[in-house]
Amino acid sequence: MTTPVWLCSLTVSPPFIIVIIIIIVCPGHRIISRVKHIKTMPRAEPVEYQFIHRRAGHVMVAFDKRLFVWGGYMELPHSESYTLMTPSKCLYHSAIDVFMYDPLLDTWTRRMSNGHIPLQLSGSCAAVHKQHMYLFGGWTSSTSDEYENSSNSLWRLHLPTLTWELLFPEGIPPFPCDKAACWVFKNRFYVFGGFGPSRELHTMSGIKVNFVRDSVFPSGWIDQLVYYDIENNKWVWPETRGPKPSPRAAHTADITGDKVYIFGGRFKETRMNDLHCLDLTSLRWSGNLTESAIQETPEGRSWHTFNFISENKAVIYGGFNTTQQVLKDIWVLDVTNGKWQQSPSEQAGPVLWHTSAVGFPGEVTFYGGIKNNLLDYSQPKMIAGC
Ligand SMILES: *[C@@H]1O[C@H](CO)[C@@H](O)[C@H](O)[C@H]1NC(C)=O
Ligand SMILES: *[C@@H]1O[C@H](CO)[C@@H](O)[C@H](O)[C@H]1NC(C)=O
Ligand SMILES: *[C@@H]1O[C@H](CO)[C@@H](O)[C@H](O)[C@H]1NC(C)=O
Repeated sequence: MTTPVWLCSLTVSPPFIIVIIIIIVCPGHRIISRVKHIKTMPRAEPVEYQFIHRRAGHVMVAFDKRLFVWGGYMELPHSESYTLMTPSKCLYHSAIDVFMYDPLLDTWTRRMSNGHIPLQLSGSCAAVHKQHMYLFGGWTSSTSDEYENSSNSLWRLHLPTLTWELLFPEGIPPFPCDKAACWVFKNRFYVFGGFGPSRELHTMSGIKVNFVRDSVFPSGWIDQLVYYDIENNKWVWPETRGPKPSPRAAHTADITGDKVYIFGGRFKETRMNDLHCLDLTSLRWSGNLTESAIQETPEGRSWHTFNFISENKAVIYGGFNTTQQVLKDIWVLDVTNGKWQQSPSEQAGPVLWHTSAVGFPGEVTFYGGIKNNLLDYSQPKMIAGC
């Protein structure tokens, strides 16, 4: 669709579309993907649903057969022409609202959360441990502190009661940033990478971290690997072995067994296609696994999604490439043999900064995102859902 964003008026409630891709991996590695565009929320839905319609930079997690959506923002049109340095004009979504999607019933529910409500954020990362969603970092326009709108706060949301808690861990916190990737392993909530302002490195004695500053902004890309020790309420910077991936942001990570795989992301002017595996038991990095791929591999990208839909198979969808094209391709990676296979995706449109979650094995649901070049400041943004 090519509807400019402002035609999706806030008082009208247009149906919006979420994409569910069901990937069935048959013996012999045949991949069938079925793309369902589900129209939900007819016009008669209450007006409060308007804010679920257009959203980017939000988080989405699966818990108890439902998908939970929180945060993010909506880009607004500028009347004057603007450049890269013009502050983005955007509307942050309410931090109180939590939207729940039931993939079986195809219904949305809006609930108000309580407790210590987080800031309104975009580009945070989130992962579930037991009954809590942990939420780290992000970009906020609602407060200015020493870290220039980048957050390194850690919140957690008790999903059954939707109660938030701001955590005050001991130890050295991660660099404030947005667009980091995170995952949970055992009682640890891990954070890798991100883009944010530099920090007094001398206060971080003994910690090896690379920070590479952007040529335009005072922020940069970071290769931090930090975990929050949930039982002991403490940030820990583990030592790893093997070749660590470069600093990056807007990359993705997902875990299978005791291994986390990290794909792509942006570092300086390059959006990468390197795949790394970190063994969370031995804390050894694999190096760039894309190098040993025999067949075709996906091109480099950031702002894509990457999810394990079974023990060995992960799905990549969309993103943004080095020449700033929005991608719509779907790939399935088999980590047992490192083979990539492209899956038919005619019906799944180009999208970036969307979210994905696996509610049921074999099925990944995508929601939100932006359909055109986010960095082209001469045209309005089209947020998926319009
Ligand atoms: C950072 O936060 C301050 C305080 O609310 C706000 O005035 C400013 O616009 C924000 N900066 C950007 C670049 O959004
Ligand atoms: C990873 O390997 C692929 C394939 O050899 C290569 O094209 C790519 O540049 C490598 N990425 C990085 C960041 O080294
Ligand atoms: C980015 O994607 C577009 C459209 O698929 C393609 O034409 C272009 O070559 C890609 N750029 C890079 C650097 O791969």
